[in-house]
Amino acid sequence: MRKSDTGRKGSMIKLGLIGCGAIGSAVVNAILEEEVPNVRLVGILSLSSNEVIDRAQRLLGTHFAHTIEELIELAPDMVVEAAGQPALKAYARSLLAAGIDVLPMSVGALADPDFLADLVQEANRKGGGLLIPSGAIGALDVLRSGCAAGEVDELILTSTKRPAALRGAPYLIEHGISLEGIQGPVTVFDGPAAQACNAFPESINIGAAVSLAGLGFERTRIRIVADPNVPRTTHSLRARGAFGELQLTLRSSPHPDNPRTSYLACLGAIAAIKNSRGPLRFV
Ligand SMILES: NC(=O)c1ccc[n+]([C@@H]2O[C@H](COP(=O)([O-])OP(=O)(O)OC[C@H]3O[C@@H](n4cnc5c(N)ncnc54)[C@H](O)[C@@H]3O)[C@@H](O)[C@H]2O)c1
Repeated sequence: MRKSDTGRKGSMIKLGLIGCGAIGSAVVNAILEEEVPNVRLVGILSLSSNEVIDRAQRLLGTHFAHTIEELIELAPDMVVEAAGQPALKAYARSLLAAGIDVLPMSVGALADPDFLADLVQEANRKGGGLLIPSGAIGALDVLRSGCAAGEVDELILTSTKRPAALRGAPYLIEHGISLEGIQGPVTVFDGPAAQACNAFPESINIGAAVSLAGLGFERTRIRIVADPNVPRTTHSLRARGAFGELQLTLRSSPHPDNPRTSYLACLGAIAAIKNSRGPLRFV
């Protein structure tokens, strides 16, 4: 697959998108509002159409792709996945095999070591890459630097959520944990990210991003707390090591259309696309 003539080093990026729900729609709307310069949205792969996709087709000439092959045929430089872990698992390899960069929002899928190794191998082979977004957390730069420069002794991410946000998590079902009627904070999980990713797949994108930036899935500790009294999801990141100490607390505003997704994740996806090109980039 040929990179577009205007891609990589040039000013214009040809973008593809998988999924057009809360995050995907925010990306499309930002492009429609011309908030993301030098981007051409060439195609959207979605299970069904919606008003945002209609607008993109009409105003941007975006192609509605029914299959991953159709999307690849449009020769995007980069594809943003905002469709869920199964979609990332189904499509990421084909994109990388075509030399296309992938920006996955469903980062939790990368906790599967075989899947991750396969993607890395494919990326190495074809020169594409996985661009891990900071999404709904921050300080990944500190973790990357801290872990590269020396030992990080401790890395803990505590996510505190309202019980409804944890409903249906495999770990709660398997262990018969009911959160009905709890009055205060209850720690429902405390263990390595490798285990948390399967136990709370819907809540673990941030944990996966933190693990990838820092100590890996085995050495990153995740705590999940249910608390009916928190007004919104709160993430607390703590790291300590040769670099010093990091303490970050983030109280996320929910996305108005999908309360399970934080608004910051949408903004993060847009910021990541902007940062992938242009004369001033943050790395
Ligand atoms: N990295 C982060 O910090 C972060 C934060 C929030 C959400 N997320 C993740 O981002 C992903 C998207 O979140 P969202 O809130 O936009 O979800 P959403 O449910 O609002 O939208 C997902 C869209 O993808 C579509 N879709 C599902 N499977 C598909 C497939 N196989 N092919 C094409 N389209 C498909 C759905 O129809 C839906 O329109 C989720 O996996 C979510 O967990 C990541």
